[in-house]
Amino acid sequence: MRITVIGTGYLGATHAACMAELGHEVLGVDVDHDKVARLAAGKLPFHEPGLPELLERGIASGRLSFTSSYEEAAAFADVHFLCIGTPQRRGEMGADLSHLQSAVDALAPLLTRPATVIGKSTVPVGTAAQLGVHLRALAPAGGEVELCWSPEFLREGHAVEDTLSPDRMVLGVDPARPSRAEAVVRTIYAHALEVGTPLIVSDLATAELVKTAANAFLATKISFINAMSEVCEASGADVTVLADALGHDKRIGRRFLNAGLGFGGGCLPKDIRAFMARAGELGAEEALTFLREIDAINMRRRTRMVELTRQVCGSLLGTRVAVLGAAFKPDSDDVRDSPALNVAGQIQLQGAMVSVYDPQAMENSRRLFPTLDYAASAREACTGADVVLVLTEWREFVELAPADLDGVVRQRVIVDGRNCLDPTVWRDCGWTYRGMGRP
Ligand code: UGA
Repeated sequence: MRITVIGTGYLGATHAACMAELGHEVLGVDVDHDKVARLAAGKLPFHEPGLPELLERGIASGRLSFTSSYEEAAAFADVHFLCIGTPQRRGEMGADLSHLQSAVDALAPLLTRPATVIGKSTVPVGTAAQLGVHLRALAPAGGEVELCWSPEFLREGHAVEDTLSPDRMVLGVDPARPSRAEAVVRTIYAHALEVGTPLIVSDLATAELVKTAANAFLATKISFINAMSEVCEASGADVTVLADALGHDKRIGRRFLNAGLGFGGGCLPKDIRAFMARAGELGAEEALTFLREIDAINMRRRTRMVELTRQVCGSLLGTRVAVLGAAFKPDSDDVRDSPALNVAGQIQLQGAMVSVYDPQAMENSRRLFPTLDYAASAREACTGADVVLVLTEWREFVELAPADLDGVVRQRVIVDGRNCLDPTVWRDCGWTYRGMGRP
């Protein structure tokens, strides 16, 4: 099929390259000329395993190109994916839909033929219905233009695999209007449907809610185990053993039950806040008050990490702290709302000398936190350190052996913010090891 992908950030660039990989003719659209030029030259503006190869292959095959022109987009295809970011509004809990609105405003007047517009962005429930009315009012093809919603569930670091082999697909359509969307989606995703991937077709509101509810559930699961971590700290129990034991119950499951520094990134934190804000607008505020607690538990983990560091060092003032990890999770260079960088910043503000190293997120970290010191390697960050903090569980850090750092650090003290190291190994080599929620 010929399709456009409007918005070429994380979601859009991945979606565009994956759709081309599936054999579709794809035009990526973005108002950022610089981004368009870089993508067209095969350069990905973020780190995502496997994606550079797909981008290159798509461009070389002639099936993938990029433009800043909405006129070109409207002429190119009659299926348009909306992959525009919906960040948290400055100083508020709700989502900022202005970029999404602008994209619809730019596209709609150019739709002179029947078209299917498929929203993929994470939006507050009710957005799709409103946008649909607006789109049809502005489009010359009027009622022949359909807006449906098919949320995306990809995880950074696994974006290609999640897009090409999703565990489910959801499509929301307006039940009051005739719809081509299901047929279009079935053609586009024929490969996934053939192998039995479920496609759930619902109304627009339910489809929007599937996404926000899924992220709220994941955030809740992480904060649940982090709350248990607090109780473990108070009682001398070990949250990692607790999580393993709980995880054997199939109704609970072990995934997303890793206690530590908590969740960050461009999705979970802002999505639970936008969800609470939207529930408030709908008069259903009480239903989601628990998410406030989920958010609070999560933020407390960062403070706890600072406290733990102070405890093991005696005082932060003048202490040399090595911070290993800046990305919000491994295999990503994303530092948006990163717990690791947040902790590094807090510790520095309290008088410590902080040296940060991350295998991929150095450039983004420097941009966001220019006042921190950055090292060229884990070894350099740890040189002369009084304490080493592991704040993102990159494989490189998980595989560190005490011998790698003996003689490099000033004090053999390590605090494991992701419970990703084996305490016995470090203690047996004479290190002081502290985890989160572990004795
Ligand atoms: C999340 C969801 O997992 C995706 O399904 C969703 O599509 C995406 O948001 C989105 O809305 O676009 P992502 O933000 O890439 O994906 O990252 P996750 O893998 O969910 O991790 C989020 C955070 O939780 C990370 O900071 C991670 O370190 C933390 N986490 C994860 C834990 O603290 N413990 C765990 O057990 C798992």
